[in-house]
Parts: sequence; C-alpha cells; structure tokens
Amino acid sequence: MIEDMLRTPGAVRDAERWTAHNYHPLPVVVSSAEGAWLTDVDGRRYLDCLAGYSALNFGHRHPKLIEAAHAQLDRLTLTSRAFIHDQFADFCKELAELCGKDLVLPMNTGAEAVETGIKVARKWGYQVKGVTPGQANIVVAEGNFHGRTTTIVSFSTDEDARADFGPYTPGFTVVPYGDLDALTAAIDENTVAVLLEPIQGEQGVVVPPEGYLPGVRRLCTENNVLFIADEIQSGLGRTGHTFACDHEGVVPDMYLLGKALGGGIVPVSAVAANADVLGVLKPGQHGSTFGGNPLACAVAIEVVRLLATGEFQRRSAELGERLRAGLEGLVGKGLVAVRVRGLWAGVDIDPALMTGRQACERLMERGVLAKDTHGSTIRLAPPLVITGEEIDHAVAQLAAVLAA
Ligand SMILES: Cc1ncc(COP(=O)(O)O)c(C=O)c1O
Repeated sequence: MIEDMLRTPGAVRDAERWTAHNYHPLPVVVSSAEGAWLTDVDGRRYLDCLAGYSALNFGHRHPKLIEAAHAQLDRLTLTSRAFIHDQFADFCKELAELCGKDLVLPMNTGAEAVETGIKVARKWGYQVKGVTPGQANIVVAEGNFHGRTTTIVSFSTDEDARADFGPYTPGFTVVPYGDLDALTAAIDENTVAVLLEPIQGEQGVVVPPEGYLPGVRRLCTENNVLFIADEIQSGLGRTGHTFACDHEGVVPDMYLLGKALGGGIVPVSAVAANADVLGVLKPGQHGSTFGGNPLACAVAIEVVRLLATGEFQRRSAELGERLRAGLEGLVGKGLVAVRVRGLWAGVDIDPALMTGRQACERLMERGVLAKDTHGSTIRLAPPLVITGEEIDHAVAQLAAVLAA
C-alpha cells in the first residue's frame, strides 16, 4: 500500500522506458541535494559517496559556486569563441597559475580534453619533434579510461567500452600500467606522448607502484616525448593534493582536467601546458562552440579560487586517513583489499560474498550511494566537504552490508 504511494518506482520505469540503456543506474531518483547529501523524490536522504565521479568535489551546490553561477546567468551566458568575454582571461590565467603552466585551452567534457591532448601531441610531434608525417604514436596503459569517443575507445582495453565500435583509430600502443620496462620498450622515435591516469579511477582506484610516475617523467624527458597526465578524475583535490601527480613530485607536460572544474554545475574541461606545446594550435585547427563559455568560466574561476586556498586538498588528505583507517579495519571482514589516496578509495569486496553492484544496492537501502566498477570492486569518492562523522557513518553502513 505504502509502496503504491512512492514516486520512485514509476520514475525509474519512465527513465528506463524513454532512454537508451547505456547506463545501469541504481534505482534512486534524486530531486535535490546539498553538501554531501541527496534527497530523493520520496523524501529519503542519502550520503553521496560518488560525488558525480569526482565532478562534485566541492559538494552539491557549494554556496560560492552557486552564487557565481547565478550572477553570471543574470549577465551573460554564451558568446562563442568568435568574441572574447570578460570571464575568459581570468579563468585561463588563474587555472594556468594553479597548474604552473603558460596556457590553458578550455573545452567542455573530459573526453574533449583528452581528444585535445591527443591532437596537440600529434601536431607537436610533427612540427616540433620532427616525426615522420602520419607516423605519430602515443603510448597508453592497459586498464585505462579516458572517455567514450571513437578514438578514445580505440585504445581501451575494456571490451564493453570498445567492442563493435571499430574501425579503430590507429596510432596507440598499449602497455601494462605500472611497468616501466614495458614503457621503455614501447617508446620509439615516432612516439609523441605517453598518456596516463596517475591513478586509474574507473579501473578501481588503482595506484601505480611508487617510483612509476617519476620513471615515466624521466623516460619522457630522455626521449623527447610529452607526458600527458589525465587528471580528469584524480585531480583538483581528490587525492589530498591539487593533482595526483603531486604525490610523487611529478610535473607532466600536459594536464587534462575536467569533472570538478565545473563545480558540479556546468561541464568544464581544459588542457594546461606550456606555450611550446599548446602554441602549436593556430586559428581554425581546434575549437568548440561552448568551450570556455562565460557561465563555465565564471563557475570555474571560483573552483580554481577554492582550490587555491588549499583547504580542500587538506580536508581530503586528513579525512582520507580516517577513511583509510575505517576501510582497512574491514579487510578480512568482507573486504579483500582497499586502495586509498585522499578521499578516494577502491574497495575490493570478497567476491564469494557479493558483487559490487549488490553491495551498492544494499548500501543504497542503508542511505549511502556509491558505484561499483569491475566485478566486486566499489569506488568511494565522497564530496570533499564530507565530515569525519559522515565518513564513519558510510564505513559503518558498509560494515553492516558486509556482515549481513
Ligand atoms: C580519467 C578520465 N578521463 C576522462 C574521462 C571522460 O570524461 P567525460 O565523461 O566528462 O567525457 C573520465 C570520466 O570518467 C575519466 O575518469
């Protein structure tokens, strides 16, 4: 009877009826949110432990970001890049400074930032490095996730992401992640870039062995190859530093950014690099109607300013230790392994107990939203505004799911 009065089942049915089934969402229908908490159409509250795959690092509706968006909506929303608007230079300058780079090229989605990085690296290879025309190659890692375009899925090693989307774009060499010898062997005179996630998020928050990222940096420098760090999910405070590369003091040639850059309000992505790299692009060679639009820039400027305070990186580092302690306490009690960097955790559940999907469904019933990745792995990535008590609450719910 009470079930009949709930709005969720009908809303789930309608969503399934009217959209392509390219996702398998949890059956929760969210209608509002604030900070780390979501409310569904039936008034139930959930602690958000996914944060839009790190797009909501500052929580839902952070007051400064909402204020910036409102103010911009009332003035100017879109010009296209045919004209310059008054938010553009500040955004590019402040983000370039945060990254320690000369220039920024704004786009919208993460996949577009990756595509931009690939195009820039190839052009740099031909024009600066002197690679034979048409022969440029880029080395990528097994288990990568860089987005969903036809070129990007061409070098995915996940059959679900790749199968039946060919013909595939050539020019990519795949090597095992974390293996410097394999990378050394893969680099040749036509290699223009090594494209890596400093931590593989979609793969289950896979942290490479210590020394790997500095090794990649060294190999790239020795071979005149660009190191492109896809920090779309790992960057902007998630791991306790501004960038995941910072953990090992590594500075890539190109940062690919997205997700949190839009403050959970608008899609904003960007490539940051020095002028000798990004300078290869000339008018007409790359672009996007919405890339760097006024609304996006106004929100992203505030995102960069929030990060410039260091507060979110600090929170992530400190609270990440609490998350680590809580999760490590569950190893042997239903978990087989955990990997934690800042407020980002890959949690491997004993496959004999349940799948990751089942764990997420049971967490949902207990008011915690998380997302499975592969098999029995779930990923926890709460907004960086989460409190210590809320982390304890999430860990307690996971413990209860594992014990049930
Ligand atoms: C590391 C990484 N790169 C790129 C992307 C693609 O971003 P988008 O979905 O905004 O295209 C993602 C998305 O999950 C990602 O995690």
